[in-house]
Amino acid sequence: MKIGVLGTGMVGQAIGGKLAEMGHDVIIGTRDVPNTMARTEPNPNGIPAFSVWQKQNPGVKLGTFADAAKHGEIVINATNGTGSIVALDLAGETNLNDKILVDIAIPLDFSKGMPPILSVCNTDSLGEQIQRAFPKVKVVKTLNTVTASLMVNPRQLADGEHHLFVCGNNAEAKAQIINLLANWFGWKHIIDLGDISNARGTEMYLPIWLRLWGTLGTGIFNVKIVK
Ligand SMILES: NC(=O)c1ccc[n+]([C@@H]2O[C@H](COP(=O)([O-])OP(=O)(O)OC[C@H]3O[C@@H](n4cnc5c(N)ncnc54)[C@H](OP(=O)(O)O)[C@@H]3O)[C@@H](O)[C@H]2O)c1
Repeated sequence: MKIGVLGTGMVGQAIGGKLAEMGHDVIIGTRDVPNTMARTEPNPNGIPAFSVWQKQNPGVKLGTFADAAKHGEIVINATNGTGSIVALDLAGETNLNDKILVDIAIPLDFSKGMPPILSVCNTDSLGEQIQRAFPKVKVVKTLNTVTASLMVNPRQLADGEHHLFVCGNNAEAKAQIINLLANWFGWKHIIDLGDISNARGTEMYLPIWLRLWGTLGTGIFNVKIVK
């Protein structure tokens, strides 16, 4: 498939790299291609600069957000949550309309220090803001409750016996993504929470995710739902 991945960070790298490795035709999108290629230092969290990472992943192309969105039969939003609407505006409504947008972003605001706060919560969510801003796009919120390497390799933990959530307004789009997450990455257990307003819950899971990360000393963990 042709996949457009918006975002050059660890999530864009994990998803874009894995899909390219599987033979998909991937363009990763950024704000400014020359500027992104000129960066060589890791980010403050030690994530390699895109230009360095791309040397190990030469099958992944870099373009603007618009190039990636136009290219993708499916588009993945792996941009910083505080910049997602801007990034999607740059991607262009006409390049996104009628396509599935897999939204992984979380509206974390680090501007007031640690721990970060959610810039939108309780009565709204980033997923809903995106769906309202782009009404013809089929937004499917998923993967945002696990760390990047687990997104693309869930079986590295407890042989995949843990859960992922999806939500969105379009039933067919959700069914297609549930199927692709199983086929692409090997997800065994995916719970459909309902419409896009359920992004409130999966985004508001982040404060406890961050606390567990600090306490456990690893991001390789997930929830398992038992009843
Ligand atoms: N890291 C994880 O394991 C993880 C897990 C679950 C969910 N998430 C969520 O997934 C998303 C991606 O996370 P990440 O750690 O890979 O990368 P990130 O550093 O949060 O985001 C990097 C991307 O966001 C773009 N960006 C940043 N500020 C922007 C702005 N003001 N306007 C437009 N674009 C902007 C950057 O553009 P340039 O390329 O131009 O610099 C870059 O492509 C985030 O929303 C994060 O909360 C992350």
